Amino acid sequence: MSETLHTYDQGSGPPVLFVHGFPLNHQMWRCQLDALASDYRVIAPDLRGFGKSDIASISSKTGVEMSEFADDLALLLDRLEVAEPVTLVGFSMGGYIGWQFFKQYRQRLAAMVLCDTKAAADTPQAREIRYRMAEGVEGWGSSHVAMLMTSKLFGPQTLASNQPLVDEVTEMISSTNPVTIAAAQRGMAHRDDSTDLLPTLDLPTLYLCGRDDQISPPDEMQAMADATPGATYVEIPSAGHMSPMENPTAVNEALRSFLAR
Ligand code: MLT
Repeated sequence: MSETLHTYDQGSGPPVLFVHGFPLNHQMWRCQLDALASDYRVIAPDLRGFGKSDIASISSKTGVEMSEFADDLALLLDRLEVAEPVTLVGFSMGGYIGWQFFKQYRQRLAAMVLCDTKAAADTPQAREIRYRMAEGVEGWGSSHVAMLMTSKLFGPQTLASNQPLVDEVTEMISSTNPVTIAAAQRGMAHRDDSTDLLPTLDLPTLYLCGRDDQISPPDEMQAMADATPGATYVEIPSAGHMSPMENPTAVNEALRSFLAR
């Protein structure tokens, strides 16, 4: 499958694997990729069916499990001949995939960064909303999903003063294939609760959270950091859920200081 993952791969140095969120693509990391490629090998795929990656292996009816996305990442690292353990930076759904990657491929990890994500599984109500979108999205079109999601993705500062960023993310969501949206919603609805995994994370771990994140709120992410041995928690000011794009300066600073530890 990974043969067909469209991947940004630049720079040299310790490898850092960036895993995007839903329903986005690797471009959400553009500010981090530009900033870090001078010192690291930055690898940022479009996940199966997202961005410019192939959709052939996706079914909107069965979904794609987080474990399958994790398998794709391991195959991608093989294809790129990355033998050295990587730092996985997972944003939101990318964090859900990160938990699976840890379970399945621990030896391939040097460290983890969990950005605006959750360890808990969905509530029954959240699952119901996902299934409703999975059923409807092929009829509605992806721009309707963008309309439903956009206001929840950003902090008040971005909504008030950074319309170009809101437009960019709206366009990213609108251009995502509805079949992929349905499949990823089903996969996220099926995902395991990873709360019990946190005390077992035996590698350097950084948690990043936008101060105004309504989807993965700071108190929940702080609690995840408290449950993880030796973890660092950094709150990103002037940002909601999309902290890597809303406040790249603060996110890049936190990443740089973690990676240089
Ligand atoms: C994301 O940003 O990846 C999504 O908000 C994750 C989710 O729907 O739980």
